[in-house]
Amino acid sequence: MKEALRYGALSLAVIVGLTLAIVPFAHSLIEQWSRHDVEQRSRLVYNSIQGSVVRAMADEAWERLGSIFESVAQDDRILAVGLCDEKGGLVEPTRLMPRTFSCEKVARSEAESFSNISSDGRHVLVGAFPIVDRARKAYLIVLHDLSFIDARSGEAQTFFVAALAGVALTIMGVSAVFAAVLLRGWMGALRLAVEEARFGGPALSGGRERSALDKEIQKLLREAEVGRVPIETGQIEWSPATLQNLLREALPGAEVLIVSNREPYIHNRSDGGVVVQTPASGLVSALEPVIRACGGTWIAHGSGDADRETVDERDRIAVPPEAPAYSLRRIWISEEEQDGYYYGLANEGLWPLCHIAFVRPVFREADWRAYEKINERFADAVAREAQTDDPIVLVQDYHFALAPRMIRERLPKATIIAFWHIPWPNAETFGICPWKERIIEGLLGSTILGFHTRFHCNNFFETVDRFVESRIDREHGTVTLGGHETFVRAYPISIDWPPKALAAQPSVEECRLQTRRSLGLASDVTLAVGIERFDYTKGILDRMKAVDLLLTLDPTLKGRFVFVQAAAPTRSRLPTYSRLQSEAQELAREINARHGDESYRPIRLVIRHHEPAEVFALFRAADLCIVSSLHDGMNLVAKEFVASRDDEQGVLVLSSFTGASREMAEALIVNPYNIQEMAEAIGMALRTPANEQRERMRLMRQRVRERNVYRWAGQMLIDAARSRQQRRILDIAEKNQRR
Ligand code: F6P
Repeated sequence: MKEALRYGALSLAVIVGLTLAIVPFAHSLIEQWSRHDVEQRSRLVYNSIQGSVVRAMADEAWERLGSIFESVAQDDRILAVGLCDEKGGLVEPTRLMPRTFSCEKVARSEAESFSNISSDGRHVLVGAFPIVDRARKAYLIVLHDLSFIDARSGEAQTFFVAALAGVALTIMGVSAVFAAVLLRGWMGALRLAVEEARFGGPALSGGRERSALDKEIQKLLREAEVGRVPIETGQIEWSPATLQNLLREALPGAEVLIVSNREPYIHNRSDGGVVVQTPASGLVSALEPVIRACGGTWIAHGSGDADRETVDERDRIAVPPEAPAYSLRRIWISEEEQDGYYYGLANEGLWPLCHIAFVRPVFREADWRAYEKINERFADAVAREAQTDDPIVLVQDYHFALAPRMIRERLPKATIIAFWHIPWPNAETFGICPWKERIIEGLLGSTILGFHTRFHCNNFFETVDRFVESRIDREHGTVTLGGHETFVRAYPISIDWPPKALAAQPSVEECRLQTRRSLGLASDVTLAVGIERFDYTKGILDRMKAVDLLLTLDPTLKGRFVFVQAAAPTRSRLPTYSRLQSEAQELAREINARHGDESYRPIRLVIRHHEPAEVFALFRAADLCIVSSLHDGMNLVAKEFVASRDDEQGVLVLSSFTGASREMAEALIVNPYNIQEMAEAIGMALRTPANEQRERMRLMRQRVRERNVYRWAGQMLIDAARSRQQRRILDIAEKNQRR
């Protein structure tokens, strides 16, 4: 409204300004034209009566002359006619000749002349035309009343202003109609574009041809979107409460289901009783706080030997045991199935295929069949557990590449978020897999497919491009296969903040003392730690070799420096894993023999499962932590180490081949294949002054705090909410089209 008023006032000002500028000019123009016109008429009069006047003068027929003049003066515009003789006398003036007129004022020249006089307030033009009669010389006088010029000019001005106003109003009206039509078009385009940008897909266009304008708006919105979301989410303090609010507001009533191989709580028999164990799994430590916050059902393999006896008749158990917040639904897998699905296809096939650790992947047809069967079993369980037809299903990891499509077949309206926790290799490497197309198609059943890094997303696009007929939109990060669109995005996984395991920890000082005491070390011994599953991708042998070299390069460290490697046995049934374990034990023995003695063992290899509280106590006791993965999707150990150090001390030595190294540049970044470089980095870590440790640690802690696991889950849920809205609008649009 304001805009319209402003526009109207401006137009009015322009019209007034134009009128003021043009009116004087128009008046003088009209005056000139009219005067010229009058002069012409005077000339005409002169030319037409000149002969008669001369004859009347010759005949001295003054009466005749008077009647000639009277008949000429009949003309409306002619005021009076007369003759000025040689002596300046006025001869036979017509009736209306002004009394004030005097022949004295008439220029006497050989040629015609015109002059202005004023009579009774009127402007009068006097034309004097020489008349020569033998010896006599006189002037024919023709007087024209010029007041009609003012009237004509006034009329012209009125007409001009009216015309200008008319034109201006017409232009304004036409512009308003045009603007309204254009605006309506823009709004329509904008609305479509906003919907698309919000949900990230072109589906709402309903097949309509997109104009260049639509595309431009679309592009701008996409750009705004790209810039806006990270800023917004970056400003949010992510916590369980934020996640709960997000679910409540953006996904009201949504049911959350998690599918993973590893379960968050394992019940095992021990000393005649049952103990609950938390597995050493990055996936579990990331997802458990999320589902605790959201509630829902976690469907996982019941792998503990007391798992069956702790579930109800529907294979469910409420967890966490100390404060139940969600339901764990256990799936039973026989030993034989486990050999094919878990040990075989997942861990002898896909795991080495996706990690560049130079272990050859093994693919067996029987393993693939078991893998398909178990994926079906989990998909069936999802369909059974779902209480709504559109749950949010979080499918985790390389154990379930086929499940997203299978779930989609059972629950077409489900929002399926698949997350691939390990790296995705380049197309050439992935091409080794005999079932590559099936795996890709399976994953593309998801609504959203997440990787830790953009680099892995790009590898995925490249692989899809190479092996599957589909439409890839790299700019918007989507792949469309068989009419179904999947968003492929990077969501860097993280940990709980503050971590649950930190809550009951004694002070760092206390942890240092207790740990050294339990290891039989003097209180001033410098301690380095490495904590993970005993996996060949973790570079455990390489870091032990680096410690060996360090002690060789700097023998003064002997007796003053110890490296503790806590390694949880994992997949030990596989030769590569059991071999690694014995190689590590052998190497530790060698190094200890080389640099130690009966009272000093520089390498302490502790092969057993450590519960999170123990892990955190070890982190807090350490001077440095070594993460030397040969390849790792993210590596949460690095993040847990910095989270454990609320004293802002301790140094992290971190492999450049972890996803975590992209976010933790303040660590000492190393190439784990370069033993010399790693040894030097460990030496440097030991010499890092407290103030530098503080600066580095502070920045890393800040980043992990901000980019915690609630943010990871939150970003996926925000994208899921968008996709659900899009789905709903599409449903409405389809219904409307059917009507
Ligand atoms: O790194 C991917 C990952 O799924 C981790 O999240 C998890 O720690 C590990 O692999 C799986 O280990 P496991 O085979 O013992 O469940």
